[in-house]
Amino acid sequence: MRQHVNPLSRFFQLPLQLPAPKQLFERPEQPIHLDIGCARGRCLLGLAEQQPRWNHLGVEIRRPLVQSADRDAQASEHGNVRVLFCNANISLEGWMGALPQDRLQRVSIQFPDPWFKRRHRKRRVLQPPLLLAIAAALEPGRELFLQSDVPEVIEPMVALTELSGCFERPANDARPWRLDNPLPVPTERERYVLEQALPIYRVLYQRNRQPLPDRGALENQWQEIDNPAEGVSSES
Ligand SMILES: C[S@@+](CC[C@H](N)C(=O)[O-])C[C@H]1O[C@@H](n2cnc3c(N)ncnc32)[C@H](O)[C@@H]1O
Repeated sequence: MRQHVNPLSRFFQLPLQLPAPKQLFERPEQPIHLDIGCARGRCLLGLAEQQPRWNHLGVEIRRPLVQSADRDAQASEHGNVRVLFCNANISLEGWMGALPQDRLQRVSIQFPDPWFKRRHRKRRVLQPPLLLAIAAALEPGRELFLQSDVPEVIEPMVALTELSGCFERPANDARPWRLDNPLPVPTERERYVLEQALPIYRVLYQRNRQPLPDRGALENQWQEIDNPAEGVSSES
């Protein structure tokens, strides 16, 4: 199995200024779908073909994957897809915060890396600051889609998202897991899991009208739930 990148290592802590939509897309006024941890970007490249009235941005921390994915993206017919290198936990908040209102309309986190060990939990991609930045950028009704084949990965994501109070599931969606994928193109990992006929755990959220909770309060509550035995983590 490939080695995961440690997003907490010093190199990946350097903030990058991601380009604005007008530098990325032919029609920057279109709504944006942001896929966090997109790997080789095959899902996004497929979506870009099928949904030319959306712009699609993938972010990925493994640079070699980004180089080939973004080469394909820039060759795409509609000028509506790009893949950028960054650590989502460091560089996305500023980019999302600078977007025009309601430009970001869908965010997906699909099959994030499975950091199983408790001492590695801070390496998981969905942390309180990223969730709050997503919630701040999405208008009511806009979507956050999460999926994984690993219960220990999806369960904390669901717990944190619900703890924030900023998201609801569509009333008709099955619980605890959605029956199908709302996106019409599977990811690389999803194809593999489907071929093995293994279960996939999916949740679609919509931003509600609740104001953002206080960041420090959410972090403290999350710390108590996620890691009650330990005080503030010293991992770096
Ligand atoms: C298990 S792979 C899944 C890739 C793809 N979403 C799929 O479903 O096939 C998770 C991806 O997230 C990327 N990743 C992990 N942490 C990240 C971070 N902090 N910022 C950006 N990408 C990250 C990893 O490098 C990896 O490519």
